[in-house]
Amino acid sequence: MQRKVPVPKPMTILGLESSCDDTAAAIVRVGNAGAQVLSSIVVGQNDLHAKFGGVVPEIAARAHAEKLDLCVEQALSKADLSLTDVDAIAVTAGPGLIGGVVSGVMCAKGLALASGKPLYGINHLAGHALTPRLTDNVPYPYLMLLVSGGHCQFLMVHGPDQFKRLGGTIDDAPGEAFDKIARLIGLPQPGGPAIETVSDKGVSSRFAFPRPLLDRTGCDMSFSGLKTAVLRKRDALVEQNGGLLRQDQADIAAGFQAAVVDVLTEKTRRAFDHYPPGCQRTLCVAGGVAANQSIRAALETVSSTFDAAFVAPPLALCTDNAAMIAYAAAEQCHLRAPDDMTLSARPRWPLDLSQPSMLGSGRKGAKA
Ligand code: KG4
Ligand code: ZN
Repeated sequence: MQRKVPVPKPMTILGLESSCDDTAAAIVRVGNAGAQVLSSIVVGQNDLHAKFGGVVPEIAARAHAEKLDLCVEQALSKADLSLTDVDAIAVTAGPGLIGGVVSGVMCAKGLALASGKPLYGINHLAGHALTPRLTDNVPYPYLMLLVSGGHCQFLMVHGPDQFKRLGGTIDDAPGEAFDKIARLIGLPQPGGPAIETVSDKGVSSRFAFPRPLLDRTGCDMSFSGLKTAVLRKRDALVEQNGGLLRQDQADIAAGFQAAVVDVLTEKTRRAFDHYPPGCQRTLCVAGGVAANQSIRAALETVSSTFDAAFVAPPLALCTDNAAMIAYAAAEQCHLRAPDDMTLSARPRWPLDLSQPSMLGSGRKGAKA
C-alpha cells in the first residue's frame, strides 16, 4: 500500500549544511509543480585537510564558521532573493562533526532570530534519504542505499520522518575504504575516482580479496577486513619486488572495487526482501560512492531483477549539499512545529531509533 503524504504547501526555504567538510547553503522552492533548486552553493575543504590524511574537526569547524555567511549570501543572491523572501530556515543539526554542526546551528539561529522566520533542525541522513523525492518525486515507500565517505546504510523510507534502517556498515564506510586503499597503493585523494580509473586497466580476479559478512544474514556490511587484506597483499608485493608495478596497482584497485561491488549488490538483494508487498519498487542511491560506474551498473542490474526502478540523483545532489536539507524541511514542516532557540547540535542522531545504535565513529564523524 502506498502511503499518502500531503502535498507540500508552496514555500521557499533556505538550507544550511556544515556537518562534515563541505560548507553549503541553498534555496529550494516547493510548490504544486514540484520542487525546484533555485541555488545551491557548496564550498569544499579538501585543500585544508589534504596534508592530514583525513578531516581535522577543528579546522573544519573554523572553516565552516568563516564560510557559512558567505555561502548564504551567495545562495540568496543567485536565487535573486533576500532573507525576507524565504519562508523558513533549515539547518543540519546532526549527525556529524560537532564543531561544524554547531557552526551551522548558530548561524541558522542568528538568521532566524534576525528575520523572524521559523527554524527547522534537520537530520543530515534524512536530507540524503529524501533527495530522490526532490529530484525525481519518487513515491513512498522506497529503498535507499546511502553510500559515501561517512555513511553506508540501507533504509526503507516510508515518509518524511519514517525511516526503517535495514542494516549498515559495522566499521568503515566504503568511501573511507576507497580513500584508504588509494593511499596504500600510491594513488591520489579522493581515492574513489582514482581507484575507479586505474581499475579499468586491472585484472580483478588476480587477487582473491574477501567479501566480508556475506556469510551473515541481513544487510549489515563491513569493509575494514577487506582493507586489511589489501594492505597484506600490498606488503607482500613490496617485499617480493621492492615496490608496486603499475599493473600491481591496477590489479589491486580492480580486485578491491570488485569486492565492494559484490558486497553492495548482494546486500541490496537482501534489502529488497524487506520491501512491503504490493507496492511499486524503487531503489535509490545517494552519497559520493554512488558516482562509481561499476557500482551503479551493478545496482541497476539488481533493481531490474526485482522489477524496481533505479534512481540515482545527479551527483551534485548525491554528495553533501544544503538543497537536500531545505527540501527535507519542506516535507517535515507539515508534521511538526518549528524548533526554537534551544535547538542544539546532535553529533549522533540515528534516523531509526528502533535499531541498535552503530558503534564507532569514522574519519568524517559519527555515522549516525
Ligand atoms: O558523499 P561524499 O561526497 O562525502 C562524504 O562522504 O562526506 O563522498 C565522498 C566519498 C569519498 O570517500 C570518495 O572517495 C568517494 O565518495 N567517491 C567514490 C567515487 N567518487 C567519490 N568512490 C568510488 N568511486 C567513485 N567514482
Ligand atoms: Zn552526507
